[in-house]
Amino acid sequence: PSAQRYEAETAPAVCQGTIDTNHAGYSGSGFCNGDNAAGAYAELTVNASVAGTATLGIRFANGTGSVRPANLLVNGSTAGTVSFESTGAWTTWTTKTMTVPLSAGGNTIRLDPTTAAGLPNIDYLDV
Ligand code: GCU
Ligand code: CA
Repeated sequence: PSAQRYEAETAPAVCQGTIDTNHAGYSGSGFCNGDNAAGAYAELTVNASVAGTATLGIRFANGTGSVRPANLLVNGSTAGTVSFESTGAWTTWTTKTMTVPLSAGGNTIRLDPTTAAGLPNIDYLDV
């Protein structure tokens, strides 16, 4: 089946920062600009029809020259780390793909930045 898209600006998603619209190229009505702080997370709830591994696409932009690493938590447990590399500009969006374990039903996916720079700007998740 084709992936379902979950926008970072759409409830019940949580953005510890602001929903912004000032960098073109995002999907939906905005993107999550997380606070520039360790632990300033974005969390989205995604649905799986059955338990198992799923491919997670994370669309983001990082207009700085530095990587912005984050822990990826699924239902509160660390499921990996993501190194959000520079995309060269805040208007250059790219999708990073990960494999994650999901339960049947709703699953929280939290991107939890590990440095004081915080997250890159987050547009959506595809699952
Ligand atoms: C700039 C940019 C924001 C971004 C921020 C950051 O202010 O306009 O969209 O979130 O840098 O460094 O995180
Ligand atoms: Ca930010």
